[in-house]
Amino acid sequence: MSKKVLVLPGDGIGQEVTASAVEVLDFIIDEYSLDFKVTSMNVGGTAYDESGSPIPDNVLDAAKESDAILFGAVGGPEWDDLDWDDRPENALLRLRKELNLFANLRPAFLFNELSDASPLKKEIINDLDILIVRELTGGIYFGEPRGIFLDKEPNYAFNTMIYNEEEIRRIARIAFESAQKRNKKLCSVEKANVLEVSKFWRSIVTEMSEDYPDIELSHQLADNAAMQLVLNPNQFDVIVSSNLFGDILSDIAATLTGSIGMLPSASLDSSFKGMFEPCHGSAPDIAGRNLANPLAMISSLSMALKYSLNEEEAANKIDKAIRKFIESGNRTIDITTDKKYLKTSEVAKKIIEMIKDE
Ligand code: IPM
Ligand code: MG
Repeated sequence: MSKKVLVLPGDGIGQEVTASAVEVLDFIIDEYSLDFKVTSMNVGGTAYDESGSPIPDNVLDAAKESDAILFGAVGGPEWDDLDWDDRPENALLRLRKELNLFANLRPAFLFNELSDASPLKKEIINDLDILIVRELTGGIYFGEPRGIFLDKEPNYAFNTMIYNEEEIRRIARIAFESAQKRNKKLCSVEKANVLEVSKFWRSIVTEMSEDYPDIELSHQLADNAAMQLVLNPNQFDVIVSSNLFGDILSDIAATLTGSIGMLPSASLDSSFKGMFEPCHGSAPDIAGRNLANPLAMISSLSMALKYSLNEEEAANKIDKAIRKFIESGNRTIDITTDKKYLKTSEVAKKIIEMIKDE
């Protein structure tokens, strides 16, 4: 049976970077004679303008039936004042929740050739290779009850940070297993000195570590972890954290590499179906100008092939081509140091050439 790939370009540069990834995907489909059915639909502000919803029902249904979703980016100033439910970001949150994409894998790695772009000194940042495993469908993002109360004295608002045991176990399992495939170190990050939910998180992760004697487990408080990521990022291999702390830590980690335009992410359900998106946003300031770096999106395609579509060989080819692209001096506008750069639409062609050369 053919595998279903849904492309959701979204807003801003989401459109351009997904077009590049689809170009590479079409080539891979051809090259490996894959039986994939690729469909594209609007989401985010673009979908709101067209249909009045950032995630129309037919898009959500198509997403549920897909094996892998390539998601560009959503949002832009023209949609900032919409009601909460209509905002483009809500498309992302609903997809995560309704598809049960609880495991968010956010690698942060540095190509040493690009270390000049990092805000950190070379000796601190070189060889950086971290994987952040962020819980994505629970915690304070989705906890109930929640609300804003504007008819009280004083008015107030609140959210609920909540995790049940199974939610912690399933994300920790992914983290332990990811560490087993890497350098066998796992750091669990929370605020166990202040929050009950964190204390509970730490006790479950600690108990689970008995099943993973090959993994060196450590715990850090979120504020300290933020500092450690900047002071000495190479102490980390895999980091596991909750939805909120993982959100913050993954932005720090991405920034360390100096090139958020290079970093992919995967959001997976328990059967490894998932949504794959670049770490960067919709970048309205450069949208539509053929300037965006599509490598994060192309790299997200590689994660889709590896995790959800069972085509690891093709994924490895793409990863190698991206490395070769950088090593042979090709740059996009966000990572150039001498003002020479390729346009968005030129990058996919170069990557395809490099895959052919392998
Ligand atoms: C992310 C983003 C989202 C999040 C926003 C856009 C809702 O920051 O994917 O990291 O907070 O999860
Ligand atoms: Mg974020």
